[in-house]
Amino acid sequence: MGNMKLTLKIWRQNGPNDQGKMVSYPVNNVSEDMSFLEMLDVLNDDLVRKGEDPIAFDHDCREGICGSCSLFINGEAHGPGRLITTCQLHMRKFKDGDTIHVEPWRAEAFPVIKDLAVNRSAFDRIQAAGGFVTVNTSGNLVDGNAVPIPKDDADKAFDAATCIGCGACVATCVNSSAMLFVAAKVSQFALLPQGKPEAKRRVLAMVEQMDKEGFGNCSNTGACEVECPKGISLEHIARMNREYLAASVTKE
Ligand code: SF4
Ligand code: FES
Repeated sequence: MGNMKLTLKIWRQNGPNDQGKMVSYPVNNVSEDMSFLEMLDVLNDDLVRKGEDPIAFDHDCREGICGSCSLFINGEAHGPGRLITTCQLHMRKFKDGDTIHVEPWRAEAFPVIKDLAVNRSAFDRIQAAGGFVTVNTSGNLVDGNAVPIPKDDADKAFDAATCIGCGACVATCVNSSAMLFVAAKVSQFALLPQGKPEAKRRVLAMVEQMDKEGFGNCSNTGACEVECPKGISLEHIARMNREYLAASVTKE
């Protein structure tokens, strides 16, 4: 146990149709070595012991790879610090006596389920619309490593593929745009020969689904890139726009 004392102001909301409000909680004995989620575990443990409703928040891997932890902390997606998710944020980033505001992602396309947990199934539907490649199951399988790919393209595709679908880009954007996420998912295939057969169909279908889900447009503020825990570059948005334009004018 540590010796930091904090005041947490946490968004409580019973369900999608509840109005919700900020509620203040004191938390004592916080160690600077705890992760932010461990600190919330301590608070929830305390609430359960007192017979109160624990705070709902998403988490799974707790090592920065699943994208499910999604908190807006002191006005920043995934809190202070760059290139980290909420589960990789440690309490040493805060000071004894601090007041910390914790809110869910705020976007119409990510409705609140309860408290800090939001519904990000819109991302799943965008992925399902085109985020896949053809696999030859005829018996003439070609080993993926047997297809030569320029190193630069492979590196860029890999960078795009590191997107964990956390939604910080949407939560940060003034327009709640999902362009950085969708661009990463288009780019990871667009640069590889394996992604070519469905390339046109993919970009058109994924952008159409993105629009249907109610995400806003990109106005190039670049805030998404700054807050993205995986450092996904705006360059991928430019690539997606080129892919989209080319697919639009040449579609059958
Ligand atoms: S682009 Fe970055 S911020 Fe957006 S979903 Fe992917 S990892 Fe998260
Ligand atoms: S819990 Fe998986 S990325 Fe944070």
